[in-house]
Amino acid sequence: MSVAALDTRRDSGVSLAAFAADAETAGLIDRVASFHWPGATVLEGGLGAAATYLGQTRAPDLLVVDLGDSPEPLEELLTLADSCEPTTQVVALGTVNDLGLYKQFVAAGVADYLVKPVNADELETALLAAAFREHQQDDPADVPLGKVIVTIGARGGAGATTVATNGAWTLAEEFGQKVVLVDLDLQFGSTALSLDVVPAGGMIETLRNPDRVDGLFMASALVPKTPNFSILAAEEDIGRDASFNAAGADRLVAELRRSFGWVWVDLPRALCHLNAGLLTEASHVQIVSDLSLVGMRDTMRIANFCDGLNREAEIGVVLNRIGKAGAISAAQFAKGVPKPVIARLPDDPKAVNAATSGKPLAEVAGRGKLTRAVRQIVEDIAPHPEKRRALLLPFRRRDEEDDG
Ligand SMILES: Nc1ncnc2c1ncn2[C@@H]1O[C@H](COP(=O)(O)OP(=O)(O)OP(=O)(O)O)[C@@H](O)[C@H]1O
Ligand SMILES: [Mg+2]
Repeated sequence: MSVAALDTRRDSGVSLAAFAADAETAGLIDRVASFHWPGATVLEGGLGAAATYLGQTRAPDLLVVDLGDSPEPLEELLTLADSCEPTTQVVALGTVNDLGLYKQFVAAGVADYLVKPVNADELETALLAAAFREHQQDDPADVPLGKVIVTIGARGGAGATTVATNGAWTLAEEFGQKVVLVDLDLQFGSTALSLDVVPAGGMIETLRNPDRVDGLFMASALVPKTPNFSILAAEEDIGRDASFNAAGADRLVAELRRSFGWVWVDLPRALCHLNAGLLTEASHVQIVSDLSLVGMRDTMRIANFCDGLNREAEIGVVLNRIGKAGAISAAQFAKGVPKPVIARLPDDPKAVNAATSGKPLAEVAGRGKLTRAVRQIVEDIAPHPEKRRALLLPFRRRDEEDDG
């Protein structure tokens, strides 16, 4: 739907339901809503009333929730996420005045967060902007999609997580890109631990309920590390079945690509078959291996598998722990695999141990050879300064190109 098609006058066809925490706010919302959304539902009772309403009725296009004096308004609001439609635009009101909190609301997909007391003009502007957003999102072609990078270890402990974690951090913090690191090892993944963040929970539910994956729902599982860098990981109980199906992972990554310039996935090699969709979408795949014979064999097998799925991706081999006694030389390894060796990472237990404090290599050994080698991988992927500017313009989506 085009922007011009949005009718903000009476009977625009956009439904609105609002839940105020007090009579004064209810009166204000009622006044503003009566002009643009004559059929609007405006009730008192705040979050509780909103939850009851959403439990009984289909979510409206525009949902206004007054979180009153709640000291944790975002957490409270997220309890409604499951009851909302992917297209529902949420405007929240509350009394906590904090820029960091505002950013978290926006990152969670909330259209706006207004600090009370609110005046009629502010509220009207916020509601119209949210209604506009709702219509804009009808047309997915308007949303530029982020790129997907996948890192796979050719064998256990080869260093895939080290590459993915530090690569994603560098891309976000040194190259100024908006990055989400996704750890698909739901039980034994170590990205969150190595960056000293606690997984938020909810990732497995997200993967198992693809229909419910939307910005708001997903935000409850994302953990922001810095304003540019978020982590999506889990630490599922090892006694629990942590399987999920391909549709969940595809939908999750598709949704993340709408909000992040780069989605960097740490993919357990045993899940390659399940994540074929992800590999098909990737622009870059790195296969990380040590200098062992079995590493070489499986690098070859994984490379061929990825190649069969996606001929456009840049598939490269990262040789790790060079310098440590290995069965074969780096040169022999390079000759034996079907894809180019894009990086040789030195064995550096000292740097790696320093990084166990939950800090990325760049912070504990920024000028060391290992950090520089990881940075080089990112430099080869990330846009250089002049190209970076071009990326600020919406870029074309792969499926659009396929169509044309
Ligand atoms: N270049 C290196 N020098 C020294 N130690 C390293 C190097 N790369 C990785 N390590 C260490 O090797 C171990 C395994 O690394 P990492 O967790 O990155 O591998 P992985 O492929 O993700 O393993 P998993 O199969 O468990 O997912 C870690 O303790 C890590 O710190
Ligand atoms: Mg790992």
